Amino acid sequence: MNSSDKIDYTSYEAAVERSKKIEADLPLHPGNYRLLTGDRPTGRLHIGHYFGSLQNRVELFKMGVPTYILIADYQVLTDHDAYDQISENTKQLVIDYIAAGLDPESETLCIFPHSYIPELNQLLLPFLTLVSNSELDRNPTVKEEILASGKKSINAGMYIYPVHQAADILAVKGNVVPVGKDQLPHLELTRTIARRFNEKYISDEPVFPEAQALLSKTPSILGLDGAQKMSKSRNNYISLSATEDETETLIKKAKTDAERRITYDPENRPEVANLLLLLSLTSGEKPEVLAEKIGDGGGGALKKMLADSMNEFFRPMRTRRAELEKDPDYIDSVLFRGIDRARAEAGNTLDQVRRAMNMEI
Ligand code: TRP
Repeated sequence: MNSSDKIDYTSYEAAVERSKKIEADLPLHPGNYRLLTGDRPTGRLHIGHYFGSLQNRVELFKMGVPTYILIADYQVLTDHDAYDQISENTKQLVIDYIAAGLDPESETLCIFPHSYIPELNQLLLPFLTLVSNSELDRNPTVKEEILASGKKSINAGMYIYPVHQAADILAVKGNVVPVGKDQLPHLELTRTIARRFNEKYISDEPVFPEAQALLSKTPSILGLDGAQKMSKSRNNYISLSATEDETETLIKKAKTDAERRITYDPENRPEVANLLLLLSLTSGEKPEVLAEKIGDGGGGALKKMLADSMNEFFRPMRTRRAELEKDPDYIDSVLFRGIDRARAEAGNTLDQVRRAMNMEI
């Protein structure tokens, strides 16, 4: 590794450009792509996840893009002490994916937890030799997560999980990775590892593809406090599994402001703007138009409309979700099929990697 080749974690504009290009090309050539993305099984998915990523995955899947959804169970151990819910959370994720519209009976869908794929995990060791300690140290997302954890002593898994994430992506040769902005450093690392591997271990053809991030188009959704991103840890979320009554109660308690007349002003009225954005996403109308419609009806009318609209929007998904919850064997079978498929693919990749590294017997 020479110094001019160091990972640039700040190339945001370049990533946005590449993401836009792919977005335009995906509907034209869905078969050229292989989508891989992942979630940590730390809790239920909420509406922020749905509009920020899940909805888009479903759209791409329906376009015919081969879709791999990875459940990053090992990654939970890097910053969570609790592990009692990992299996349950994994199954709940699968239920949410299917309820949202990913069809597990399709040949082009594969859902699997990475802990079940030994061949994927074996890639971690050679990959670790392709990055330097200081490159891992400089990863801005990891730095932030360490800060947020408030812990004095950080386990080594926390530093290396981005390398493991590269294994997640490259084991099945994912080349398009829908993620939020916070994951860009990990994508940059993945691209670097793929490039360094291909350059160092010369094969007939490059072993690894260049993985590109596909950035979400939806503006980031704030929590019901209107102050921070919607997230489980901030307890400002509505989960996809919430009932209609729970949804209504949560929305009633959402923060607004003292001004009666509803206007769409994300800069000065972030709480009201966020509720309008959610209403826009569930109703299909523009936030400005909705604000105009509600006008002097005030926060009460806005909340009532939002609760109704959201419940209507999520009703079919919640019905499907309730059916799936009654059939745990089916959920397990979806995972086992995904595991078989992912193991076969990661096994092929590992064979190629061994051959390239001259470790074949
Ligand atoms: N790091 C991601 C997160 O914290 C989860 C993840 C693990 C992932 N492996 C991945 C995302 C591979 C995309 C591709 O949410």
